[in-house]
Amino acid sequence: MNRLVVVSNRVPLPEKGAQAGGLATALQPLLEREGGVWFGWSGTTAAKAAEQPARISHAGRVTYATIDLTKAEHDGYYANFANGVLWPLLHSLPEMMRFDRGDAETYFATNARFADRLLPLLQDEDLVWVHDYHFLPLPGLLRERGVANPIGFFLHIPFPSPEILALAPPAGKLIAALLQADVIGFQTSADLGNFAAAATTLADARQIAAELLEIDGRRVRLGVFPAEIDAPDFAAAALRAARSPTVERLRRSLGGQSLILGVDRLDPTKGLVQRLAGYRRFLETEAAWHRRVVFLQIAPVSRQDVASYQALRAELSQSAGEINSECGDPDWTPLRLITKGGPRTTLAGYMRAARVGLVTPLRDGMNLVAKEYVAAQDPEDPGVLILSRFAGAARQLDAALLVNPNDPDAIAEAITRALVMSHRERQTRWRAMWQAIAENSPLDWGFAFLRTLRQSGAGKPASHAAPVIAPRAKLPVPIHTPSNAIN
Ligand code: G6P
Repeated sequence: MNRLVVVSNRVPLPEKGAQAGGLATALQPLLEREGGVWFGWSGTTAAKAAEQPARISHAGRVTYATIDLTKAEHDGYYANFANGVLWPLLHSLPEMMRFDRGDAETYFATNARFADRLLPLLQDEDLVWVHDYHFLPLPGLLRERGVANPIGFFLHIPFPSPEILALAPPAGKLIAALLQADVIGFQTSADLGNFAAAATTLADARQIAAELLEIDGRRVRLGVFPAEIDAPDFAAAALRAARSPTVERLRRSLGGQSLILGVDRLDPTKGLVQRLAGYRRFLETEAAWHRRVVFLQIAPVSRQDVASYQALRAELSQSAGEINSECGDPDWTPLRLITKGGPRTTLAGYMRAARVGLVTPLRDGMNLVAKEYVAAQDPEDPGVLILSRFAGAARQLDAALLVNPNDPDAIAEAITRALVMSHRERQTRWRAMWQAIAENSPLDWGFAFLRTLRQSGAGKPASHAAPVIAPRAKLPVPIHTPSNAIN
């Protein structure tokens, strides 16, 4: 069995507890089951970080190896370039980008430092699996250091058209370095198509088949691997949580009103401003629903060291205040905006209690909250999912009420439609969505990617290739993993 070495910026160190984000939710069950090394950032900055080796700890079958960042690395690599340039561009929101050449240099240099610290941890037979936009150049930097192991890369967020990516001056250099991976995985075929176009226009790759590129005599396999949740397991957790005192308290506080629920990191890509505008439009046009609904938006603060995230927090607080003061009544508060998260099980219970799930990102790689909302429903009396057509999840969950998240009127209309939807239609839609997610799991997702990496013939000669991480029978994954449901 080859050892699996996962590299991601966020590492859910057991002592740090919950980590928000789809990445941790997708990867944790695989690492817990298969064991291996999880390498990345400790989440901490330290003045002498550059001189320290990786810090190693063990839990279960996983070895965690993390490094601190200097303050300058944190700002240039993480806050400014990864989250201030790549995150908006990859989500096709170029107007949010703030480019500075110094930050780009720090991003490459910090990637090089990650590569240097990873090197002594690697063994010959390891499979290296790199994740997300923080580490686009890492495959190339590892190759430069002589790493011949198979390297896979998975992008958890969308990939834009080459024209948008090209707005970042180092776009070509990023793509060329990423093309040193053997397998590059995406959430949807649209992301894959955009990447293939970028590889042929911004770097020197040639597309020789729909999912195969050639560059400098090497082949790079592309693939679509939609991230999944363990739906039956989440459903069971939601059922248990629905009877818990916390969820019971929420239910009592509703006093019979219908609950509309949103659960998202407080992030500009999540369409929260537009969502609140849509709810406001609903309140303004549907007076008959006053005192009969409450919208609970759970939006844990995120990336507060990035200016646009601070601005968004202020903007949301302001519009939430306006909605309540201008559309509410002395005896009725139509909106509850909560900026802290909660245990995954509690959120599962809230989802089950919600008549409407509102998931309207401007763009999203997948959005596992949408899948969780479906999984959490009571099959006998399911709620209605309103889903952005620009979330990767919309491909599988096309029985949701699909909306354009930029259109507050469309959101308002969908809310009304969801609230008046017949029991029969709710069940029909829910069953179609359940079928789309019930058979999959994060483990299958991980195994499918690793199988492709093995089959790519990367790294070793074919005669070396022994079966690795074979797909296993589906076993329940414990729900109490420390990762957090919030995308
Ligand atoms: C998204 C990204 C992850 C990231 C997570 C949380 O899910 O795809 O790579 O870890 O957001 O963001 P943060 O900046 O707090 O790590």
